[in-house]
Amino acid sequence: MPAKKPLKKAVLPVAGLGTRFLPATKVMAKEMLPVVDKPLIQYAVEEARAAGIEQFCFVTGRGKVMLVDQFDVAVELERTLTERGKQKELDMLHAQALPPGSIITTRQQVPLGLGHAIWCARAFIADDPFAILLPDDLMQCEVSCTRQLADAYNETGGNVVAVEEVPREIVNRYGVIDPGATTGNLVEVKGLVEKPPIEKAPSNLTVIGRYVLMPEVIGHLSKMERGAGNEIQLTDSMAKLIGSQPFHGVLYQGRRFDCGDKAGYLEAQVAFALARPDMAPAMREILKRHA
Ligand code: UTP
Repeated sequence: MPAKKPLKKAVLPVAGLGTRFLPATKVMAKEMLPVVDKPLIQYAVEEARAAGIEQFCFVTGRGKVMLVDQFDVAVELERTLTERGKQKELDMLHAQALPPGSIITTRQQVPLGLGHAIWCARAFIADDPFAILLPDDLMQCEVSCTRQLADAYNETGGNVVAVEEVPREIVNRYGVIDPGATTGNLVEVKGLVEKPPIEKAPSNLTVIGRYVLMPEVIGHLSKMERGAGNEIQLTDSMAKLIGSQPFHGVLYQGRRFDCGDKAGYLEAQVAFALARPDMAPAMREILKRHA
């Protein structure tokens, strides 16, 4: 069934503590960590815009003001760049600017879990479908991952999550889908379980940090039920939508780097540098020196 409402909103939960990156995240938000020269949050916003998203809600916490400032006009910086004739840098900043009023923030005072973070954005979501992007999952792909989901939403008119196959022995770290029929890149989702024991996992298809959900998920989240790790899990409320609304996984076409993890973050630096003509020769030299 084709989608009834266009997908224009995205929620970016950025209220996590980022404990795996301490001490870097003692003062600075994890989502400000740069890959090559761009912060994770900016990759996520650019990915969403490439999928037609126009309104953003950052779910923030203590010490996350910088994330919003990243999308503000830096008046003094621009003046200095103008005085110094740095037109290339000015053009880059202008190209990245968002239209006024396109970002709002809401606060998750205590990080009670991803599901709770999404519930904190309920006024922004209202009655509209919305995308979720977890900025610490960094995507490298030809067609933006959010665009891949938006296309699936337009086709099915329901919930869609990006899924990826992982080795069976690590499924217990992720939300896992119980897959039904597969058509092309689209897998029907018959069930969802967060961090299952390996022997009980329904498959090795795991949900990665990109979603398009229907607003009805908020009703389930508002029950505040605790799940795996005693957190209010998004997966548990998504699972309750299955049966009453279409729910599909999109077999994501591209590479994903878990930048919430040190090894994943370092690999992203290498992969993104190698993909850039201005950085690739230097990165190849570095890799040779350390082989
Ligand atoms: P993570 O599981 O990576 O948690 O959250 P974290 O706190 O950011 O990092 P570690 O594990 O302590 O190192 C996944 C995403 O969900 C957001 C995070 O900001 C991140 O984008 N999140 C998580 C919230 O916004 N609120 C929460 O209560 C939990």
